[in-house]
Amino acid sequence: MSPHENTVPLAPATERIQQRRTYLMCRPEHFTVSYSINPWMEPANPTDTDKAVRQWQALYDAYIGLGHDVQLIDPIEGLPDMVYTANGGFLIDGVAYGAKFRFDERVPEGPAFMEWFAANGFQVADPAEVNEGEGDFLLVGDVILAGTGFRSTGDSHREIGEVFGKEVVSLTLVDPRFYHLDTAIAVLDPVEGPGGVERANIAYLPGAFDAHSQAVLAERFPDAIHVSDADGAVFGLNSSSDGRNVIISPRATGFERQLRERGYHPIAVDLSELLLGGGGIKCCTLELRR
Ligand code: ARG
Repeated sequence: MSPHENTVPLAPATERIQQRRTYLMCRPEHFTVSYSINPWMEPANPTDTDKAVRQWQALYDAYIGLGHDVQLIDPIEGLPDMVYTANGGFLIDGVAYGAKFRFDERVPEGPAFMEWFAANGFQVADPAEVNEGEGDFLLVGDVILAGTGFRSTGDSHREIGEVFGKEVVSLTLVDPRFYHLDTAIAVLDPVEGPGGVERANIAYLPGAFDAHSQAVLAERFPDAIHVSDADGAVFGLNSSSDGRNVIISPRATGFERQLRERGYHPIAVDLSELLLGGGGIKCCTLELRR
């Protein structure tokens, strides 16, 4: 016990509990920026594939070091965005709702991921509606937060609700830099704890949403962390939490402090090269829920 503990509580009373996860990742062996489908992508700027692989490897190693199970899907030449596995689908209880990409460049990824899910024992729900998987759908407790505005359609929100029989909360993104929900919201406690769903909490960037969505978020998540525009703009929210450890961008220094204040354990992993494609830590991570 530190001598200051009586007067300066450094850690909150809440004990954060790590949950073991299974993730799907894709080594960015064919990573490049050859087209532009979001404001971050500039094909004229050079990319360094080896650097992307090294940075990706650090994320992979961090997950393994924390005791998580990481599975891999083979990268396909000509599909440089496949590294962003979060977009490959959305999985709960052994059921995989497949992705149907908005832009032609990524359309072939949909069937490639569905094939992997089927070959690995998931029951696949083939989507009729345009949706980009866990990029736009986030499980918080027993509710699915669903993003729209840039990629996934409102119809896909209805469809995913039918597939999983869960409540779906639609949220509208309005800032083109934050075109997927996982760039504007980080789920900190995705699974219900012994105390029930009230333990499920999030961090988000209010300005990434329209006024109605901001009101919905404020009402549902009164204890949420609001991150600064500066931290949002470096993809600070595109992070991955296991309930205790939160892997975040080293540039999101304010968010790091907010997490520590709440008793989480932030771990910095730099994916600067993958940010050239408009993706970060969460984008490179798809949760496989059996
Ligand atoms: N270049 C990819 C795209 O624009 C990046 C995807 C990022 N993924 C994410 N889950 N936010 O589709």
